[in-house]
Amino acid sequence: MGGAVFVFGVVLLMSFAAEALDNGLALKPTMGWLHWERFMCNTDCKTDPDNCISERLFMQMADVMVKEGWKDSGYEYVCIDDCWSSHQRDAQGRLQADPNRFPNGIKKLADYVHSKGLKLGIYADLGYKTCGGFPGSMGYHEIDAQTFADWDVDLLKYDGCNLDWKLVGEGYMNMSKALNNTGKSIIYSCEWPLYVWPYDKPNYAAIRETCNHWRNYADVYDSWSSVKSILDWSAKYQDIIVPSAGPGGWNDPDMLVIGNFGLSHDQQESQMAMWAIMAAPLFMSNDLRDICPRSKALLQNKYIIAINQDSLGKQGYQTTKGSDFAVWERPLSGNRLAIAVMNTQEIGGPRRFFLAATRGWKLCNPKCNVTLVLPKYHELGVVPLQTDLLLPVNPSGTILLTVTPLSNITSQEYKLHWHH
Ligand code: GLA
Repeated sequence: MGGAVFVFGVVLLMSFAAEALDNGLALKPTMGWLHWERFMCNTDCKTDPDNCISERLFMQMADVMVKEGWKDSGYEYVCIDDCWSSHQRDAQGRLQADPNRFPNGIKKLADYVHSKGLKLGIYADLGYKTCGGFPGSMGYHEIDAQTFADWDVDLLKYDGCNLDWKLVGEGYMNMSKALNNTGKSIIYSCEWPLYVWPYDKPNYAAIRETCNHWRNYADVYDSWSSVKSILDWSAKYQDIIVPSAGPGGWNDPDMLVIGNFGLSHDQQESQMAMWAIMAAPLFMSNDLRDICPRSKALLQNKYIIAINQDSLGKQGYQTTKGSDFAVWERPLSGNRLAIAVMNTQEIGGPRRFFLAATRGWKLCNPKCNVTLVLPKYHELGVVPLQTDLLLPVNPSGTILLTVTPLSNITSQEYKLHWHH
């Protein structure tokens, strides 16, 4: 492939007409920690007290989030997933936490999390049971919304298991209204499209009016094949999903699994870079009490987080996919652009890409400022026309950079040239 040159241009995406859910929340992608991928439905506190779903786990995570710089980096929501509740509702029909694992109840846990300057998330399901077999909210959604508000919960992840898919939309809208009626600010995290896609094209206008973020695709696992499948899906359906994202409502490609067991460091960098490009909610699911320094530094990388949280609020998209690399772009505020280049050839060593700012690249005409964010922050400075930037990318790794024009831009039209 030596000397091959790839040219691609900007994909023009229509701005989306639908209004976001009007609760004033999630104006930027939500950041926090969510227990599911790492701790799943471990209810065995007798023999595995450090890893079971219990108030202790969430209190410890909140402690670490404050002590170890996570809160200062922007991670704010400490979120409970499935398997927190008792198998029975109380005499008034309210959900109650498992008394052995949450002896002080959710309200006390919320108070504790709030005392640390953080927020608490909880999980429920619109069907008869949750995905893990705990009581569902079918027939109880108003009571449940009020219960969560009474407990001072700040986010609800509402799952869609155990119900006919035709009733899923109505179920999500009902809970949205019920949360709104409580008068409390509760971020509403949905899985509506995920449960509709197998049968029909989801109504993203309605979803955006109902939810603050929404899962589209399968659960993330701690593996590169899982992360890749999420990226492939997101690229395949980008014309449908990208226009629906913006302040107040985001596509949710599921949790960050960085800091666990399944991804190499390069793959962890790829997940972090691509979740930033996709304007994804950043919910880590890992053990913050025991995480390697490199993963921690990556998750706390302020330059990548700044791209994720960019105030323009536009989701990025894939512009090129060859057999051995993929390029994604995200428009940023200030007429800047983030570019991610992933080496998708999973054999061999680093592959070298050359980025040339050419005459056709109006964004850089006559010159622009380029900053490398990954693998290492490096201000390359002003790049004049016709400069070749050498960018080595490791197999299944990603380089991330931002480009800032240094002149008035009259057109968003540009061309990047790559060769390798
Ligand atoms: C579904 C969701 C997951 C998780 C589990 C819990 O699979 O997609 O994110 O919440 O349920 O049972």
